[in-house]
Amino acid sequence: MANDWTPDGWKQHEAKHLPHYEDAQELVDAEATLARFPPLVFAGEARSLKTKLADVSAGRGFLLQGGDCAESFAEFHPDNIRDTFRVILQMAVVLTFASKQPVVKVGRMAGQFAKPRSSQTETQGDVTLPSYFGDIINGIDFTADSRRNDPERMIRAYSQAAATLNLLRAFAGGGYANLRQVHQWTLDFVDRSPWADRFTNVADRISESLDFMEACGVDPQSVPRLQSTDFYTSHEALLLPYEEALTRQDSLTGKWYDTSAHMLWIGDRTRFEGSAHVEFLRGVDNPIGVKCGPSLEPDVLLKLLDTLNPAHEAGRITLISRFGHEKVEAGLPKLVRAVRDAGHPVVWSCDPMHGNVIKAESGFKTRPFDRILAEVKGFFAVHRAEGTHAGGVHIEMTGQDVTECTGGAVAITDAGLADRYHTHCDPRLNAAQSLELAFLLAEMLNAETGDLARDAA
Ligand code: TRP
Ligand code: MN
Repeated sequence: MANDWTPDGWKQHEAKHLPHYEDAQELVDAEATLARFPPLVFAGEARSLKTKLADVSAGRGFLLQGGDCAESFAEFHPDNIRDTFRVILQMAVVLTFASKQPVVKVGRMAGQFAKPRSSQTETQGDVTLPSYFGDIINGIDFTADSRRNDPERMIRAYSQAAATLNLLRAFAGGGYANLRQVHQWTLDFVDRSPWADRFTNVADRISESLDFMEACGVDPQSVPRLQSTDFYTSHEALLLPYEEALTRQDSLTGKWYDTSAHMLWIGDRTRFEGSAHVEFLRGVDNPIGVKCGPSLEPDVLLKLLDTLNPAHEAGRITLISRFGHEKVEAGLPKLVRAVRDAGHPVVWSCDPMHGNVIKAESGFKTRPFDRILAEVKGFFAVHRAEGTHAGGVHIEMTGQDVTECTGGAVAITDAGLADRYHTHCDPRLNAAQSLELAFLLAEMLNAETGDLARDAA
């Protein structure tokens, strides 16, 4: 990529939301250790994701990106990884079946550890300690020991990411994702949701189609794509020392790749002009996401696109809008028009989570399901009006039966939030709510496809 770029060039720029490490030598040692470790992903995989996203940017396909707000060391368990993966598969199947379009599956997994914080420190009573920056930096417990920003945690995060990715690859390629297994993906508690019947119905129809194809000589043995799927990983590229240490030059192309994940995104708080995070991401060849909030002006966005994607390469940029349900229809069109008119090929994706956080009367931070849905609807309406493709969603979800977002068909009430509120950071959709969202998304995607067919006729 850029000739004037080096993996550590970001250090000459303004870096916000990076933790301060007290012991500089400790940091240098941890970075050196990481730099010797194997890459977590291979450059060729990042390129294949880019090719798929290029298709989505051209209107073919849909991006499904989801997972934890913040992964944690405490919740690291094979069942959690399996359950999140399984819900993403269920959602993907519903979306693929309904829209008859390929779905690109990307997890917020195997590296989503660091959180931007508005303040370096947190005060409780008369004690002031570093804020909790995510398990890759410090611990959530409010004690001096746990809150110490510890570079060694990057090594632990790396090994957790490696083990997570290993299991995901095994699931994706080793038979678990075989379409013949579609009935087995139903989770027990999803059974209680009214959407479980609809899922069983979709699963029946897929099985029947597979029976028919098999009679015609097309089966998972002859067509391996039926028994495996491509699953990619992503996280916010926030902790630059970690990202830099995992950035490697691809021996095939000579290009730089951040090998900590296939796709990296830049947050709404670190995308400002002159930012160290922008400087870093501009030089790696991975697909890049950019969070777009209500404060982003079209000219600033265009400048950012010229910096991150000067060659207008399709698949390079995914713009992830996060406006809030009340602001999306007023705020998004000006960005969509500016990007379209400038001829930047992007995937437009909707993050209906981060603009819809409220504090429930019970004191919990929550996201009402109907607001999440309203933002997705608004997002589709904007793209419909502008003639652009509503290309994806970006959600915070888990395969666990948590009670963190209110509403949904198995309605979670304000009072019910306390039952199983486990998140380390923001409230996530549970398995049943995620599946419900997939069905509603499928309807919206179908409406878009119907429009296109009518326009073409
Ligand atoms: N390989 C195809 C795909 O990823 C079909 C497929 C296999 C699939 N297993 C799947 C699709 C699970 C969705 C979910 O699209
Ligand atoms: Mn979050």
